[in-house]
Amino acid sequence: MKKNNIVYKCSNCGYSQSSWLGRCPLCSKWNTFIEAVKEEENATNIIGSNENRIKNIRGAVPLNQVESGQNVRIKTNINELDNVLGGGLIYSSSVLIGGEPGIGKSTLLLQIASNIATETKKEGEKVLYVSGEEAGGQIKDRALRLEIDCTNISLLCTNRLEDVLSSIYKLSPILTIIDSIQTINSLEAGVIPGSVAQLKYCANEVISWIKEHKSIVIMACHVTKDGNIAGPRTLEHLVDTVIYFERTAEDVRFLRSTKNRFGSIDTLGIFNMTEKGLKEVLNPASMFLTNRVEEDAEGVACTCIYEGRRCFLVEIQALVTDAKASISRVFSEKIESGRVNRISAILERQVGIKFFGVDIYVNVAGGVRLKDVGLDLSLALAIYSARCGIPIPSDIVCIGELSLSGEVRSVDKIKVRANVANSLGFNKVYARDKAEGVESVKSIRELIRKVFGGKLKKSE
Ligand code: TYD
Ligand code: MG
Repeated sequence: MKKNNIVYKCSNCGYSQSSWLGRCPLCSKWNTFIEAVKEEENATNIIGSNENRIKNIRGAVPLNQVESGQNVRIKTNINELDNVLGGGLIYSSSVLIGGEPGIGKSTLLLQIASNIATETKKEGEKVLYVSGEEAGGQIKDRALRLEIDCTNISLLCTNRLEDVLSSIYKLSPILTIIDSIQTINSLEAGVIPGSVAQLKYCANEVISWIKEHKSIVIMACHVTKDGNIAGPRTLEHLVDTVIYFERTAEDVRFLRSTKNRFGSIDTLGIFNMTEKGLKEVLNPASMFLTNRVEEDAEGVACTCIYEGRRCFLVEIQALVTDAKASISRVFSEKIESGRVNRISAILERQVGIKFFGVDIYVNVAGGVRLKDVGLDLSLALAIYSARCGIPIPSDIVCIGELSLSGEVRSVDKIKVRANVANSLGFNKVYARDKAEGVESVKSIRELIRKVFGGKLKKSE
């Protein structure tokens, strides 16, 4: 039969058009398009029968009669992830997991697929894993390495949206994983694969189905190292939850949510990438501390960070050397350079040391990128110690924000932070607020006097 004579017709309302669609644009029914022979065109063929159309049109309903979404959650049994999600995955919702290539998205997704498949095995539910990047063999190898249970996981390796939708209609899976959404294309969405229009169209088609069924979709998407997130950003408003993976130390991964329609976004998930996949870090308190060769070191100050409801100690390291160029420079990747400059200026003014003709290097042991305002005080102490060549006792921790006048400001959760520091053997905790196990300091001058006593500065 001539191709021109074939049309696709909705078996529910009769709407017809030249290409296949997952959902009828008139009656909104899913998977109703069937191949048919073109009939002579008349108004009814083109727009479907009026009776059927009106029958399927949705009307508005009073809000007080709408049943509450029960927000039933299904746990992934990966605690760190469940916490970031606000307690688990919610039915009829969509999740976007972003991160740079190689960070561990596919690993986490396979672990989630296996856990949910095991969890829902009894109810006969299925999990669909769509891979647009890797071949079946590669995914199987990963599954073997992770030693996970693969039963009840159906694998589909494709780049076509139509294949994905067709498998979804057939299997009606409880969980669909798409790794990654950037690799899925549809002819319906224009000719350029990987364009923003393609990305939005494909994601929207899957999400629309998920919204109407007891099902969940998790989509991976790449974020490039130089922060080019234009693609994934355009998807953020379409999905319910957005989670980003961050690399800190070589094997440590942070998981943060930047949007969550069903929970808060202030919880941080911490994982270690091991030979057998991502392992949860339940107690991160001391994981970023290094085993020191010397007890008391110059330019090394510890602080206790409270971020994403997690508390951990980090070591701030500073080194001050003669300037290599005609101007003084700051080299700091993990803490914003502007902040290092501000703290040096406060030290110049308040303590009287000079930073003219020197370069300042700042690093955070473990490679954690830090924003917590409470690290000002330890940064100041590390820079002072490095500039003056006086070692800092290894058992102290300072927590606090510094004002431009050199005054120490209080920070959140000082009791929790002090407890964690004390439990790890740090005998002295300096901060603004008075609390158990905390020695109160009001200014940077007072802190330096207390820590270094009457010792002389080498730089003078
Ligand atoms: P992957 O999940 O493929 O990253 P993404 O999907 O974000 O691109 O993980 C890639 C890296 O993780 C790769 O360099 C190998 C490493 N890896 C492990 O260290 N242990 C493991 O068990 C697995 C599966 C991967
Ligand atoms: Mg991958």
